[in-house]
Amino acid sequence: MRYLVTGGAGFIGSNTVDELVQRGHSVVVLDDLSGGKDENLAEIRNKITIIKGSITDIETVRKAMHEAEYVLHLGARTSVPRSVKDPLETNRINIEGTLNVLVAAKEMKVKRVVFAASSSAYGETPNLPKVETMQPQPISPYGVTKYVGELYGAAFLKCYGLETVCLRYFNIFGPRQDPSSPYSGVLAKFCTAFLEDTKPVVFGDGEQTRDFTFVDNAVHANLLACEAPNVAGGVFNVGTGGRISLNEVLATLRKITGKPLETKYDQPRDGDIRDSQADISAARKFLGYEPQVGFEQGLRITFDWYRDSHAKAAAAKEAAAKEAALKEPAKAEN
Ligand code: UD1
Repeated sequence: MRYLVTGGAGFIGSNTVDELVQRGHSVVVLDDLSGGKDENLAEIRNKITIIKGSITDIETVRKAMHEAEYVLHLGARTSVPRSVKDPLETNRINIEGTLNVLVAAKEMKVKRVVFAASSSAYGETPNLPKVETMQPQPISPYGVTKYVGELYGAAFLKCYGLETVCLRYFNIFGPRQDPSSPYSGVLAKFCTAFLEDTKPVVFGDGEQTRDFTFVDNAVHANLLACEAPNVAGGVFNVGTGGRISLNEVLATLRKITGKPLETKYDQPRDGDIRDSQADISAARKFLGYEPQVGFEQGLRITFDWYRDSHAKAAAAKEAAAKEAALKEPAKAEN
């Protein structure tokens, strides 16, 4: 099968592409590398086609979608606080970009588009766990854009018969999640703090809870959503069904690392919701989804990955410094 993965060089995207390649599919990645990284695809670069470009340019999207059977639309401007800071940019990429993907998919008659929706659509809905039948009440521009993507998906099924499936991801974490931006996901930030022995910063009292979901579970759901029969027009939560507070996450990291790092508590963040937890019955029933990796196991794998990539980066820096030092005398002789 031929797949287009938008945002395929990003965190969830590249993990998904790895699995598609592993299963022998043909994959085209469309990514503008604004959030994604070339190095995320380094090991499979020869097996896939990478198009550097933005979903905001419909011609580029059309070109990338040529002969695609399935489209996994994961390209987006992520982060709630970033959307609060710059709602226009989030709107342009997440809504206009999604519309371009849907228009091109309709023209190219692809079999199905799977859209990376978000738990942030639930916003202020009062009850837990979150069920897909609840009326969404997003409280951040990011949540609005992700919800609009779902509405467009449903409209494209109705108006043009384009099959769309929306997956509301709940706080996905794991290897390759970028820890370096102020908008990075909290677990990427916390793992890095434990590696660098700096105080992890908690916005608020740390008692907010999330259904932190290891990335392999999202990849599993992505592939199921492409193939499951009779799910077009469906919206499904993708989480674990549990929830854990930030204070509990930090306690687990102290246990895993053996480091008794103290926490710095700061002001709560604008647009933040208090609690989040997925009801995953619909995904179980209609997609055959079952979480593959639990929270603590996923956190251990993730922490090990950050530790290894830190070690690799340090070794590369040392090698570069040595090489520069060797060149110095030669320069002096000239
Ligand atoms: C939200 C969305 C999620 C989306 C993600 C994209 C919800 C429920 N989830 O996640 O679907 O994919 O944005 O970015 O709306 N925090 C700290 N310290 C830090 C960083 C964050 O305490 O250094 C706190 C935040 O204030 C928040 C929690 O950790 O309370 C989780 O934050 P984050 O990882 O950014 O994800 P959400 O905003 O929950």
